[in-house]
Amino acid sequence: MSPRSVQGATKGLGQELFSVLLRLEESEEIVGMGRVVGDGGTIFVICDMLVIEEYQRKGGGTIIMDAIMDYLLHEAPPNSYINLMADVDGFYERWGFEPSLPRSRGMVLRIG
Ligand SMILES: CC(C)(COP(=O)(O)OP(=O)(O)OC[C@H]1O[C@@H](n2cnc3c(N)ncnc32)[C@H](O)[C@@H]1OP(=O)(O)O)[C@@H](O)C(=O)NCCC(=O)NCCS
Repeated sequence: MSPRSVQGATKGLGQELFSVLLRLEESEEIVGMGRVVGDGGTIFVICDMLVIEEYQRKGGGTIIMDAIMDYLLHEAPPNSYINLMADVDGFYERWGFEPSLPRSRGMVLRIG
């Protein structure tokens, strides 16, 4: 996950369709997150998926993705376009995601 500006986070956080925070039961520390942005009817983008390093590979990312998929399965109408940019191999495949190539390829424009 690439860094965001405080200006961007202030403007964008809270504007998502759905978000998940992974919180430790004992300390209530937040150790992971995931968001869905989009128009709520035709396009849904899963983004900002993160579990902090110390807590990775303990099932936290799976909990976040299960909650996101539960939201999408209930809220996304038929033929919705659901996509994400994967930085890791072998994680999102578990929920049925597959590379968009060769039909299409993700592209990025970095500002600033
Ligand atoms: C990707 C990420 C969200 C997964 O969260 P997590 O809590 O580590 O995931 P889980 O413990 O639920 O993983 C379950 C399974 O997913 C797969 N998996 C998870 N992370 C993986 C990785 N980095 N590479 C390959 N497979 C991975 C494995 O099969 C894993 O099972 P295993 O640990 O028994 O091998 C987390 O590793 C992360 O935040 N990574 C760095 C930030 C990042 O790259 N975010 C953007 C992702 S697009």
